[in-house]
Amino acid sequence: MAHTLPDLPYAQDALAPHISAETLNFHHGKHHASYVSKMNKAIEGTDKESLSLEDLVLKADSEGDQGLFNNAAQTWNHTFYWNSMKPKGGGAPSGDLADRIDRDFGSLEGFKNAFSEAGAGQFGSGWAWLIVKDGKLAVRKTLNADTPLTEAGAVPLLTMDVWEHAYYLDYQNKRPDYIETFLDKVVNWDFAAENLANSGQ
Ligand code: FE2
Repeated sequence: MAHTLPDLPYAQDALAPHISAETLNFHHGKHHASYVSKMNKAIEGTDKESLSLEDLVLKADSEGDQGLFNNAAQTWNHTFYWNSMKPKGGGAPSGDLADRIDRDFGSLEGFKNAFSEAGAGQFGSGWAWLIVKDGKLAVRKTLNADTPLTEAGAVPLLTMDVWEHAYYLDYQNKRPDYIETFLDKVVNWDFAAENLANSGQ
């Protein structure tokens, strides 16, 4: 079975003005769609066709198949990114997630600083992540298509795309403005809390 491009979990204009419909049109409709279609082409007629997307990412990584890994990981990363945002997002987390952010980063501000530094400090294209590993929350930055899915014991909770295609139409070269807006206006804390609860950590 070929993998399909999932619909955005909200309307294309639902994150505007923070992330415009034009950005989502290109980012989801062209970039994400292209990763899905190249991945499908690469696995067509092979025994990898039956693998789940997560297993395909891990398999491509373990076999050192960089081309397949790039497209499979980008397919997974982008779906995770759409869910890491929501209309009228931002604000503060609550419950267990809030307590653990305070415990592991000192405060919400401490988390925001670490996450912003990861996003702004990722040279070139990549991602910033909130993960849980060994029962502790942590921030990661990854290059290009790299993803914490391949880090043993790590469970991704939240991600932010810092490839230029994620923000250039709305923010041009001002990546720090995009990062600040992501955290203040669109981040989906409910999604992170759900992932933490499901992580068993
Ligand atoms: Fe992207």
